[in-house]
Order: sequence, then C-alpha cells, then structure tokens
Amino acid sequence: MISVEARSYSFVGALGVIFMSPVSKFFKFLGTSHMQFIDEVVAWYRMNKRDLPWRNTRDPYIIWLSEIILQQTRVEQGLPYFNRFLEKYPTVADFAAADEDEILKLWQGLGYYSRGRNMHKTSKIVMEEHGGYFPHRYDDLLRLKGVGEYTAAAIASFSADEERAVVDGNVFRLLSRFFGLQEIINSPQGKRAFTELANSVIDKNDPGTSNQAMMEFGAMVCKPRNPDCRVCPLSQQCFALRNDRIAELPVKKKAQPPRPRHFNYAVVLSGDLILLNKRGPKDIWENLYEFPLFESERPLDVSEVLVLPDFVRAFGEGVTVLSVHGPTKHQLSHQTIHAQFVVIETNKPGLIAEKGWQFVGLDELQMLAQPKIIFSFLRNFLH
Ligand code: ADE
Repeated sequence: MISVEARSYSFVGALGVIFMSPVSKFFKFLGTSHMQFIDEVVAWYRMNKRDLPWRNTRDPYIIWLSEIILQQTRVEQGLPYFNRFLEKYPTVADFAAADEDEILKLWQGLGYYSRGRNMHKTSKIVMEEHGGYFPHRYDDLLRLKGVGEYTAAAIASFSADEERAVVDGNVFRLLSRFFGLQEIINSPQGKRAFTELANSVIDKNDPGTSNQAMMEFGAMVCKPRNPDCRVCPLSQQCFALRNDRIAELPVKKKAQPPRPRHFNYAVVLSGDLILLNKRGPKDIWENLYEFPLFESERPLDVSEVLVLPDFVRAFGEGVTVLSVHGPTKHQLSHQTIHAQFVVIETNKPGLIAEKGWQFVGLDELQMLAQPKIIFSFLRNFLH
C-alpha cells in the first residue's frame, strides 16, 4: 500500500474539482507521488495479470494483430480470433499475400470490418515500403492505416520500450477516478490532458510493462461498474472513492442516439444456389455479402415491400412469397438495423447481372464474409 506520501493524493483529490487547470501545473504539483501510483499498479499487475499470448512476444506484427483485434472488443471475444489469425498468417508476409475475402471471412462476427480491410492494406505497405519488417517506432507506426495514437503507443512500448503512454478506455477511467481529473474524455482537450497525465506517470524504466499494467488494472479492478475498491491497493488515495464520485468518473459527452434503418431483404433460392449482393463502399459492411436489399424509411409490411419500384423492377410483379422472417434488430455503434427477410420465388432473373448480384452455391457460403444478421439468419434458415 502507498504509505508516506499518501496524503498528497487525498489533498490533490480534494482540490481536484477546482484545481484542474493548467493541467501540467497540476501534475507537477503531484511530484513524486506519481511514482508510487505507478509502482502500486505495476506491483499489482505482476501478481495478478492474465496470461495472454500477446504479452509473451516483442514481435510488432503480433502485437499489432492483437491490438487491432482488441479495439472495441473484449479480450474473451478477441482471443480466439487472435489465435486463428496468427495460425493462418504467422508473419506479415502471409497476411499481405492473403485474399481480402479470406481475411474478412476470418474476421466475421468481430464487427467494425474496416479494421480487417485496413490491416490488409497496412500489411501490403509493410511489405512494399518497409521490406517486410513491421515498424516499431511510434512515428512510423502512426503513418500506417488504421493505427492511431493509442495503437502506435501500444506497439512501440510493448515491442521496443519506447516511452509512450497508452490511453485507452481503461486508462481514462483509472486516471480520472484516482486523480480526480474531470476533463471530458471524448473531447480533444480531454484527450490531451489525459495523455499528458498518463505520460507523467509512466515508468520510464519499463514503459511496456507500465502500459500493460495500467490497462489491466483498469480492466480488472477499476471496472466501469462495480469496481473492486475493497481489494484495490490505491483505494485510500482514490479521489473518486473518497468523494463518492465513482459512478460519475470519467466524464463522457453523451453520444448521439443511434440512427434506425430498415432493411428488407429478398431471399431468392434457385436449386442449391442463393442470390447474393456484395456491398459497396461508403456504408457499413463494405465488401461483405448479403441478400438483395431494399431499404425503407420506415418498417414495411411484406405487401408494401412487394410493390416497391426497385423490387418490382428486379423481380417483377406477383412474386410468390414462401416465408417471412423477422424483423430482427442488430445494434451497431451508430445505427440500429431492423431487418426482415422475405423468401420469394421469382422467374425473372434478367436484372440480376445488371445489379451486380450473383447466384452463389450454398456450399460456397462458408467462404464469403457476411454481416452477423445475415449469417445468423442463414444458420437458422438452412438447418
Ligand atoms: N486491450 C487492448 N489491448 C490490450 C492488451 N494488450 N492486453 C489486454 N487487453 C487489451
């Protein structure tokens, strides 16, 4: 436990609300107590860390793979994907040589598919511009597609001990609660203030471990809800605990409510072929496969779908409806998708080629990446 200098924390904690700016003065004032803070976090980490495969390597390619997969993804969900990717593509050269369709298929179910597409682009750049050596310097990493400040700091510190603090959701929460820093975390000033604070507490002798420890502590002890304050070695000096502010910290600006969208899918089977559409750019699910889609402004009855001008143009009038499924709801970060599936029989395939739709063998579906609502539907529908 922190002992001698513990009081300086509570002093700062008590003043934290009013004494927030300028941020750098605030940090300097804390003085040596920063060291005690990070020492406690690292000591806890050494005793309690999870044994995760990306922690046993210094290979920037493997660390990059893990960090991109873990963006917006929980460790338990990301771990099997990480293992599958590493097995299939043990080096960046293997990754770069893969087909994008194959990468997206392996990515299926993880969401935020632009991560997978950007990884493919980045792997090719590494082959072409870095001679196949994955960069490990922060400034070089920042130039790669899909690698922002957080990921660059993670790779540079874990693989090469570069002194760059990582600031992810776990770190925001831990710093905000412990030090009473109440800047809005999803604002540019907030991000700057937290990055400055994180860089001032980092253990210069072992930045990689220091960063891992902060993230792990935030994930395992200083959790968003019901943090384990009773076992927390920092609890005596924690601003949020002492001031009953745990639920309010960190401060986050509320996001816009998600936009509702209504997807009406036409499911067309012909023997053991099924009609698919490959999605285009500038919208969700780029390059993923779905059924012919008729989007509407509001939920539609099947009878209304059948008379939509686009639908009639594609399939003609008076198609036979075999069954209707849904609507089912699928929540994305900024959109709520309501999808219904209209299984139809049509003998008007003329427009299919024109629209870029294609009949695909049911046995080929396993090769094509589909959004979750599509593969969940197909799993139930075909079995
Ligand atoms: N989340 C993001 N990066 C992580 C890491 N390296 N270890 C554990 N959780 C993480």
